[in-house]
Amino acid sequence: MEKLKMQTPDITNRNIEQIASLFPNVITETKDEKGNIKKAIDFDLLKQNLSNVLVEADDERYRLDWPGKKASLLKANTPITKTLRPVREDSVDFDNTENVYIEGDNFEVLKILQESYLGKIKMIYIDPPYNTGTAMIYNNDFSINEQLYAKELGAVTEDGIKMFRNTNTDGRIHSNWLSFMYERLVVARDLLTDDGIICLTIDDYEISRIWMVLDEIFGEDNHLGTIAIRNNPAGRSTAKGVSITHEYALFYGKSDNSIVGRLPRNKNQIDRYSEKDEKGHFEWVNFRKPGSKKEESPKMHYPIFVSEENIRLPDMFWDSKKSEWVLNEQPAKNVNIVFPIDDEGKNRRWRWAVKRFKNEIAEIKSKYLKDKWHVYLKSRIPNNGVLPNTWWDKKEYPSTAYGTNLMKTVFGELQIFSYPKSIYAILDSLRMMAESKDSLILDFFSGSATTAHAVMQLNAEDGGNRKFIMVQLPEKTDEESEAYKAGYKTIAEIGKERIRRAGKKIKEELEEKNMQLKLGEEATDINNLDIGFRVYKTDSSNMKDIYFRPTKLEQQSLFNTVSNIKEDRTPEDLLTQVILDLGLELNLPIETKIIHGNTVFIVQTNALVACFDDSINFKIVDEIAELKPFKVVFKDASFHDDKDRINVEERFKRLSPETVITVL
Ligand SMILES: C[S@@+](CC[C@H](N)C(=O)[O-])C[C@H]1O[C@@H](n2cnc3c(N)ncnc32)[C@H](O)[C@@H]1O
Repeated sequence: MEKLKMQTPDITNRNIEQIASLFPNVITETKDEKGNIKKAIDFDLLKQNLSNVLVEADDERYRLDWPGKKASLLKANTPITKTLRPVREDSVDFDNTENVYIEGDNFEVLKILQESYLGKIKMIYIDPPYNTGTAMIYNNDFSINEQLYAKELGAVTEDGIKMFRNTNTDGRIHSNWLSFMYERLVVARDLLTDDGIICLTIDDYEISRIWMVLDEIFGEDNHLGTIAIRNNPAGRSTAKGVSITHEYALFYGKSDNSIVGRLPRNKNQIDRYSEKDEKGHFEWVNFRKPGSKKEESPKMHYPIFVSEENIRLPDMFWDSKKSEWVLNEQPAKNVNIVFPIDDEGKNRRWRWAVKRFKNEIAEIKSKYLKDKWHVYLKSRIPNNGVLPNTWWDKKEYPSTAYGTNLMKTVFGELQIFSYPKSIYAILDSLRMMAESKDSLILDFFSGSATTAHAVMQLNAEDGGNRKFIMVQLPEKTDEESEAYKAGYKTIAEIGKERIRRAGKKIKEELEEKNMQLKLGEEATDINNLDIGFRVYKTDSSNMKDIYFRPTKLEQQSLFNTVSNIKEDRTPEDLLTQVILDLGLELNLPIETKIIHGNTVFIVQTNALVACFDDSINFKIVDEIAELKPFKVVFKDASFHDDKDRINVEERFKRLSPETVITVL
């Protein structure tokens, strides 16, 4: 029986595997600090493989560096043993929902999610602290002296995580922030699908640096665009005398396959299509293709017969030698011949070829204007929206009017959170990141959870099935704030409550809309709308230290099988850590069954079956094996001796040989 490792993956090992697949000859072995043999890279050999493109330590090169960058990368690659514990009482519809809300430091959470969500997230939207001196960030291990820390007293999360106001007092204002962002982005990139997209919002203060960091992590070629969003038309004056009215959203793809989605047309763009027929709205456009040349496609430079009563093609044939149309009939007196020739006399071509003209003639008309006959075509609103451009200035983007005020519709008059994003700016960012309606969306600086609100809203609008994962530090609210006085002691409390209230409101509005449908309008399936979420909190591993030091464990177990699991942990805690360790997703359906007096968890039919009871009734082993699970997990301590273990293995071999049996 294999033992689960119960810690996050070692990303360095993953990197070694990737190098090995390209250069198998550079893989070698060495000893670690405890004398164990481990895989390693023969760097000299790797250098020889790449000899003519290497930069040596003293060579000049182009890159962004800061003190702490190397340490950040090391940190990003090192495993941790922390885990997530479910919090049913804070969740909504825990058993059925596919949305997830995680309380904790996002760096740890991103690492914990590494195995389960590797390559599975379609969009990451983040609105990190802008490093403007007022926002708090997690202390993050960079040593901060006690005196300085004392000044920031009170800035400790509920879990005792020290927070840190990144002021310029220690002269590392940019470096601290860059390290904070770099290590998170390095880990986050791995979670994106191959066609995934990340959107990061920022203002003037750090845009130049974060742009370079994103170029480095995602690749300059994967920069999809940087959009200026007019989020504060009234302006924020700076000490230098310039008023700032916008911020930025930087979009990067994971690879060439990441393609931006289109945005809905705005009212002006729709109003253009003011005419209507039985097929819908349209506008008349000239049938002559603007900017074209006859030579590009001479067959599309054909004559059209027009008169007051009629528009048609003449009887004609294509003379391939002359490369032109030749008439078989002459026009009657009242008929004019029109060619695609512009006002300057330049020969152009029509928008459609002859065949389509004949088939769809109802879409075409002629008109006598300024002493000449013209041909026009009905241009209809394309279904697929417009290409996003780099200047967003909808009146709904300002955060005060459409962020703070929206919060008021959810929380009443309370000023509960400073500067929530406008939901409309997030809605358009989500639309731009994917047209697919069932994407998984991650926001690991979730704040008041505007992104979760936007995801539910978008699903209600188009019947989509997008799912979200929100991550938020349980950062304490200021004791003087309205939020604190109203009982919201942390930002995570605000975020969770917002999702509860916004979800309820969106559902009620949808019910209302479905009741007032006009003829021809279809109802949105309300049962499809997921307004629930499973809450998890980060915590230390469920396993005691001895779990990670097996030699010590063996010595101990000679005398007594002391449990290797912490006393305060529940079977559901263990199940969550096992789910993560095995790389399964957090939102899979879980069924809890009592079989022969033992509690058995069945995750997604037969993806995983687990039982963590202290003593196992062997009759259930057969019943579990009948389910033919892919993986089964027990507690090692549930077995009295090796005979028991062999017995279980034999039963599975007989009844479900494919099942992988593991123990804690
Ligand atoms: C600019 S706000 C995001 C606001 C959000 N877009 C909204 O509309 O409400 C950044 C958030 O990141 C949170 N945060 C900062 N450091 C964090 C960390 N290490 N882990 C998780 N959240 C963090 C802060 O508590 C803050 O709520």
